[in-house]
Amino acid sequence: MSRLNAMTKLLIFGIAIFLLAFGCTETKQETANHTDSIDAYQEPHRPQLHFTPAANWMNDPNGMFYYDGSYHLFYQYYPDSTVWGPMHWGHAESKDLIHWKHLPIAIYPDSIGCIFSGGAVVDVNNTSKLGTAEQPPIIATFTHHDFKGEKAKSNDFQKQSIAYSLDGGDEWLKYKGNPVIPNTEKIKDFRDPKVVWHEASKQWILVLAAYDKVKFYASPNLIDWKFISDFGIEGDNRLWECPDLFPMKVAGTNEEKWVLIVSIQKEAPNEGTATSYFIGEFNGKAFECEIENQKWLDWGTDNYAFVTWNNVPKEDGRILGIGWMSNWQYAQIVPTEKWRSAMTLPRELKLVKKASDYALHSSPVQEFQTLRGKSTVFDEMNIVGEKVLEGSFPVSQSEYNFSIDVEKTTATTFGVKLQNNLGESLSVEFDKKEKKMFVDRTNSSKNKFSEEFFKNIHAAPIDFEKEKMDVRLIIDAASIEIFINGGALSFTSIFFPSEKFNKISLVSENGTFNIVDSKVHALNSIWR
Ligand code: FRU
Repeated sequence: MSRLNAMTKLLIFGIAIFLLAFGCTETKQETANHTDSIDAYQEPHRPQLHFTPAANWMNDPNGMFYYDGSYHLFYQYYPDSTVWGPMHWGHAESKDLIHWKHLPIAIYPDSIGCIFSGGAVVDVNNTSKLGTAEQPPIIATFTHHDFKGEKAKSNDFQKQSIAYSLDGGDEWLKYKGNPVIPNTEKIKDFRDPKVVWHEASKQWILVLAAYDKVKFYASPNLIDWKFISDFGIEGDNRLWECPDLFPMKVAGTNEEKWVLIVSIQKEAPNEGTATSYFIGEFNGKAFECEIENQKWLDWGTDNYAFVTWNNVPKEDGRILGIGWMSNWQYAQIVPTEKWRSAMTLPRELKLVKKASDYALHSSPVQEFQTLRGKSTVFDEMNIVGEKVLEGSFPVSQSEYNFSIDVEKTTATTFGVKLQNNLGESLSVEFDKKEKKMFVDRTNSSKNKFSEEFFKNIHAAPIDFEKEKMDVRLIIDAASIEIFINGGALSFTSIFFPSEKFNKISLVSENGTFNIVDSKVHALNSIWR
């Protein structure tokens, strides 16, 4: 896997080959089922607000669709270890995008290979003829990855295949004619197919990542695919992964644009891996946009492979997605024992036009508010130095909303600090002069499990152009998600303190930090 450094790459590869001595065959292992026991999901660092597998390794979200009252979430899953290995599709289901039920593994490796990332669509009109009009099939598109081929340097070890479900997503059958898109050009990185219906040309469009670009294919039936075009940035040789393509209305208007999401494996704003997007046009043949307009969906280090749900009802109309809340730089060595990795909160995307520019805003889905418990309201505050916020909320399971009075604030830097009794801390600081927000997790744990993780203070641009700036912080046992001005900027960062953060304070340097409309909500666990 070229995203990992050489040593890690060798180690993982070695383990994978060992485990696959007899090929990528089915190993009937199932995820632990959701348990209602109040002792479950209480291990150190276990998120209480975010989806995690009950046990073992998880990376990218895959194949998400809505059907018959349920949101389905599949994910890259290795059931035999807490590090990456031969991939399966794990499966979970939710009625509200917040409370998840773990389901048995949906798609297993087979003789063609392991099951890498991809999408799923509800084939409403049974174009594939794999179902019936009454029971439309759900078609998953994924990459078959053949380790033996990779080892033999065949270069065509990644191919696109499909599986289908005739019972709304529980049982999956592999299509007999797999792969549906062979790797005839022998492209080493050729993966992560995601499909969308293109209404104007009445055909399915598949987008996949092909090393440093994406390729588009078209099909009338989700089985027979024809290459139509590709899209990349001249001179850019970063590895692209997990693309997504969908139409979206500009908020408050009838103007439609097409969004192309691509996750990028290096040179993210704060190093490592991150999700980016382009806003443009898609005419059924090619995607066009101003290349320079590549933007970051999230400025933090921990929102990768973000993709959207298919088949969200028209009357709902939202564009909903989720990302993997980690970074390949350190994902496999974070200090959790039973499982590794969480998803971000499910988010709603909005396309916003400002002057002639377009941007995606993202914020937690509105259903998230149902987790709110007791709220503590604070009067207007003028902070000089440090003020600890006291109230009936556990800091590491809370949501803090406030507005900064930008004009009245005179401090050079001001922000919020999370701490525990061991002197470990994380801070979110704003700097009006530098026009930046800084997230400093360099002191978030004494256990320095990864050099990369603790190396840098992370930053994002903020214009401070409004009189009041809205800040929303969602704090879980092992993460903070920051949403500025309704999601115009989002920033996701994970952390692993030796004990949970139990103190939240407001801090300012050289002046006052003025805050209005300040409210902390205690949040209920999604596992209870
Ligand atoms: C992204 C990724 C995908 C691939 C999967 C393998 O994180 O590298 O490109 O399909 O993970 O687990």
